[in-house]
Amino acid sequence: MHSDFPTLTVVQHPLVQHKLTYLRSEDTATENFRRLLKETTQMLAYEATQDLPTEPIEIRTPVATMRSPVISGKKLCFVSILRAGNGMLDGMLELLPAARVGHIGLYRDPETLEPVEYYFKVPEDIAERDVIVVDPMLATGNSAVAALDRLKECGVQALKLVCLLAAPEGVAKLAREHPDVPVFTASLDERLDEHGYIVPGLGDAGDRMFGTR
Ligand code: URA
Repeated sequence: MHSDFPTLTVVQHPLVQHKLTYLRSEDTATENFRRLLKETTQMLAYEATQDLPTEPIEIRTPVATMRSPVISGKKLCFVSILRAGNGMLDGMLELLPAARVGHIGLYRDPETLEPVEYYFKVPEDIAERDVIVVDPMLATGNSAVAALDRLKECGVQALKLVCLLAAPEGVAKLAREHPDVPVFTASLDERLDEHGYIVPGLGDAGDRMFGTR
């Protein structure tokens, strides 16, 4: 937990910080960016799922029988905020392959920086699921707040947000509007610039992972 932001967990593990350095570097090419994002997402997911309930099952090892824990039938859903959130989905799904997936399409109006929804598709039973929203960049927080608003309108009660980088402005907004939603990130960066980019950040996450610029 972060001292200024009680809802925020910054994952300080050296492996996360090492990979984040290369994700930030402008010398990292698209292919490596995608791989590093997937690997880092898995470590963030590891932190974000610390509280998943387990139940013991009976198994036989080559030596003895025992009762050993497995994840109990918790229903999960990952919701990607398009398009950059998709770069985090593969990593999440490799760890938790039974999870369902939803997509929310939001783009930032370049003038107002306000989110505009253009797509919304989530599982029908989403209200019964624990939902982890993924978006690499928590910048102004506008998109994340809009996505969480929509999911709560659908009846979702248990929500978390996993992002690669966060700006103080975004974390503060989220803590104000959704104080019940824990946020997991690899770094709390310094600030936003006048275009809404995280500083020092890593640039446009979508462009970096899809090679569109
Ligand atoms: N979205 C990005 O892709 N990068 C930022 O720095 C902020 C928002």
